[in-house]
This record gives sequence, C-alpha cells and structure tokens, in this order.
Amino acid sequence: MASDLPSDRFRIKTLSCQDMLETLRRDAREGLVQAPRSLPPKYFYDETGSRLFNEICKTRDYYVTRTERELLEQHADEIIAMTRPRTCVELGAGTSVKTEILLSRLTALRDTATYVTIDVCEEVLLESARRLLRDFPGLAIESLAGEYLAGIDALREPEKPVLYIFLGSSLGNFSEPDSIELLSRVVRRMAPGDSFLLGLDRVKDKDVLERAYNDEQGVTAQFNLNVLNVLNAQLGADFRLQAFSHRAVYREAMEQIEMHLVARISQVIALPGIDEMIRLHAGEHILTEISRKYTRSSIQRLLSRSGLCEQAHFEPENGYFSLVLAKPVH
Ligand code: AVJ
Repeated sequence: MASDLPSDRFRIKTLSCQDMLETLRRDAREGLVQAPRSLPPKYFYDETGSRLFNEICKTRDYYVTRTERELLEQHADEIIAMTRPRTCVELGAGTSVKTEILLSRLTALRDTATYVTIDVCEEVLLESARRLLRDFPGLAIESLAGEYLAGIDALREPEKPVLYIFLGSSLGNFSEPDSIELLSRVVRRMAPGDSFLLGLDRVKDKDVLERAYNDEQGVTAQFNLNVLNVLNAQLGADFRLQAFSHRAVYREAMEQIEMHLVARISQVIALPGIDEMIRLHAGEHILTEISRKYTRSSIQRLLSRSGLCEQAHFEPENGYFSLVLAKPVH
C-alpha cells in the first residue's frame, strides 16, 4: 500500500498488531458483559469511523475543529518562532489538515524537517503522508500506526528541538489520571528546548456542548453506532445497529461530555470466543466516550501535575478553546 511513496522520505511502522484482536476481545468482555457498561473510544477509528469523524469536524454544530483551526492560523508564526522545531511528533495525527498550517510555516523557516505521525488508523496515515510529501518537498515523514503510548515508546532519537503536538482536545477522552500519565510519558522523553502544543476544548454553555455532540445531520450518531460495526466485523458479534440509539449529555459537575449507546429494546448479544452473553434491557446504556472540557485553572493543574509549565496560551474571544504551548519543568 505504501509502495508508491518515496522510501527516502517516508517510513511506516505498524505497532503491536498481533494482540490487537485479543485486546479488543478482552475490552469487550470487561466492558460489556456487566454494568456499568463501557467501551474504550479508540475502537471508533476503523476506516469508516475515521471518515465519519472527519465529517463531524465539518458540521456546523461541532465548533471544535473550526475554532482550533482559526487559532492555529492566527498564531502559527508565533508558535513556530517560539519552538523552531526540527521534528514535529503528533499524537492522533489523523488527516493532519490542521497541522499543515504549522508545517507550512515550519518549511518556510527550515529546508528540511521531520514529521512523526502517530495514529490508530493506518489508512488515514498513508493517505495524509501521500498528500504532505507532495505538498512539502522538504518534509520527511515517519508514521507509527498504533496507540499513543505504543507510538511514544517507539520513537527513535528525534532530531532536536522537538515539538510534540496533541490537537483536537483528544486528550479529553482520558480520565484525569490517565491524561497525566500520558502527558508525563511524553515529558519523560522531552529534552530542554523541546515543546508541547496541546489543543483543549473549554467548559462552556451546556446547550452549545450538547449540540456539538448531537449534530443536526446525525453524523455523530452514525459515528457512535459504527463502533458496533467494528465489534461485529472484528469479533463476529451480532449487534443490530437499529436496536441502539445515540445519546450525548454534558455532565456539568464532571465537566465532561458522555456519549452513550442506549438499547432501544431488551436484547441478548453473543460474542464469539466469549462464554458470557451480553444481556441488555431496554434503556440500558453503554458509555462509549468521555470528552472532558477544561477551564484555564484545570489546564494549569493538568500541566503542573504532568511536569509541564505554560509558555503561551492562545484562546478566541469567546473562550471556546485553548491552544497551549508548554515546556518541561525538568
Ligand atoms: C477526537 C476525541 C477530539 O471528543 O470531541 C467527536 C471525538 N466524539 N464527536 C471529541 C468526538 C464525538 C472528539 N475527539
């Protein structure tokens, strides 16, 4: 698949593929057989799920992507001037469309640079590499297909200074302790002079938040339901998508969106290779995603607990989103 890409400027490595099915089976058993039921959000992103996510980003109701892109456009020069990276490492790179704004400023500054992309969706990594190699002749790309932690562990000695990038408020999918663990793992790899650019969605009006996760076109609903297709395809389960509905609610006290799949009728689902059945009664729900929302003070707390200190903080006038540039404290 990658054979048409120039091997002197592109490499892709697939991380821990063999036990992925086993991990999915274990996550499904642990998460689904008994209440409280949940699934890790990383399983959303098969090829269809990744494409649906890109469609969500284009909806009017999902302000997140648009707001972050505007901030990047306004502040890319300043970010690149402050960080002057030779290597960019992006967690959850996806299509890299927003990151391109930074890459274009970076390649204007340096003749050559390396862009390391980490993402669970290999198809999307290949597709964006193809586009970026064409548009940025000075750029070399190293793609790591796998989870964030596996990607961080697989990093070779990158040329310094390194700009680590984690956009789209994807960190919000993790609980606070797991976020601190993930950021700290990156910080441990950082050298003096390296920086971290984080995009984080902010606490705001409940209606605005809930509309963003219940878009009018129903793309988020399709995205949420698609995780059942992933379980059907990968595990041979027999979920019927019509038997579930999408629900997203903002929990103000927790400062997080929760996405659920709600059983419309009572049903029993078999998972091949798993002895126990999944018995759901009508109205029972499966938590498929948390998306945490931040305040300026919760961001400060998160950074300091992860060994980072803020260097610059960019936000729009309405305070809808934060782009934070941070440095390791060590
Ligand atoms: C990719 C994790 C940033 O939490 O807003 C979008 C995923 N879920 N709509 C988010 C998502 C529903 C998104 N992140």
